Amino acid sequence: MYARVFYLVCLLFQLAHGANFYDRDENILELTPSNFERVIHRTNYTTLVEFYAPWCGYCQEIKGPMKSAAKMLSGLVQVAAVNCDESVNKQLCAQNRVSGFPTLMVFRPPKIDLDNPKKNSNVASSLHASEVYKGERKTRPIVDFAVSRVKNYVRRLNRYSRFEEVFKSARTQYAVVLVSKKEKIPTVFKSVAIDWLGIYDFYSVWDQKLKGVSQLDFENATTQWPNTIKYLRSLENAETDFESPKILVLDRKSDTFEELDLLKTTDKTDIASFLSRFEPKPREGPLSKRHEYIQSVANKSKSKKTNQNRKAKQGKKHKTKSQPDLPVDDEL
Ligand SMILES: *[C@@H]1O[C@H](CO)[C@@H](O)[C@H](O)[C@H]1NC(C)=O
Ligand SMILES: *[C@@H]1O[C@H](CO)[C@@H](O)[C@H](O)[C@H]1NC(C)=O
Ligand SMILES: *[C@@H]1O[C@H](CO)[C@@H](O)[C@H](O)[C@H]1NC(C)=O
Repeated sequence: MYARVFYLVCLLFQLAHGANFYDRDENILELTPSNFERVIHRTNYTTLVEFYAPWCGYCQEIKGPMKSAAKMLSGLVQVAAVNCDESVNKQLCAQNRVSGFPTLMVFRPPKIDLDNPKKNSNVASSLHASEVYKGERKTRPIVDFAVSRVKNYVRRLNRYSRFEEVFKSARTQYAVVLVSKKEKIPTVFKSVAIDWLGIYDFYSVWDQKLKGVSQLDFENATTQWPNTIKYLRSLENAETDFESPKILVLDRKSDTFEELDLLKTTDKTDIASFLSRFEPKPREGPLSKRHEYIQSVANKSKSKKTNQNRKAKQGKKHKTKSQPDLPVDDEL
């Protein structure tokens, strides 16, 4: 009984303020027709969108799980919401065939073919495919579903012979290689590959597969890339060193390399700063123009606030976004 009264009071409060559910959430973008297309469809990221109505009970229930899911997905999958009760948004909800609340939908970008860049102008302008989420309305299943829809552009070096491509591909000057003791490619690395899509080539190698790298015997490897080959051999021999995963940037032209120790940081902004020493700007994510745009969309909905909220925000202002709180089996 009291719970119901409390709920009604909350509801009235919200109606009175015309508030969206996630205006104050730093990880969820409240969208409108003026930004929906650009945020959702003009990106190589996957997006999770909740279409909701503030008065609906199931929407109230999913609010908590959505907030935790968005926190875990930060930097990996975009998370957005559309308040279908706002008259300005009604058409948008109808266009997306939203027939009940809440509707959770994942928008998946088309696959980019990195070997045929000319084809991609069409791909980049096509709409993302939408898929309704029908699983449990709990944090973990929502996160797992969204993560499973992330595109992977990281090539796995699961045989020494594949190393040949790392040196010889003419797609980009630099190859970025994750060396880790886990076989699975972590989603955060997939997201970094999306940020720099077509700018760097991305690879991952499970340290066990480094054993034998000294057998690299493709044509002229040791004479053409003596420094890099020597370095890879040293990794092969450093049996105990592999507590710490690394990101290597190999310059194919000059046979030089640099490494970032991921024990020191896995923050996406730090990774982007490291990578921008070689090629200045990512397409998306920290340090990109696109990121500024996304920030401005976030700021717009976040500024629709009462004085009280503004104060609450100032207190939190300097909290930097740290490493996403990844599912355990997804850590580096
Ligand atoms: C997605 O990646 C392709 C290939 O690198 C690129 O041409 C396109 O601009 C990217 N899209 C965005 C929004 O950055
Ligand atoms: C390998 O080395 C030989 C002799 O140095 C050279 O003639 C040949 O072009 C090289 N091959 C490649 C693929 O670089
Ligand atoms: C968004 O807001 C933050 C903090 O309030 C500010 O530092 C940043 O410059 C704003 N960004 C844009 C693109 O408006």
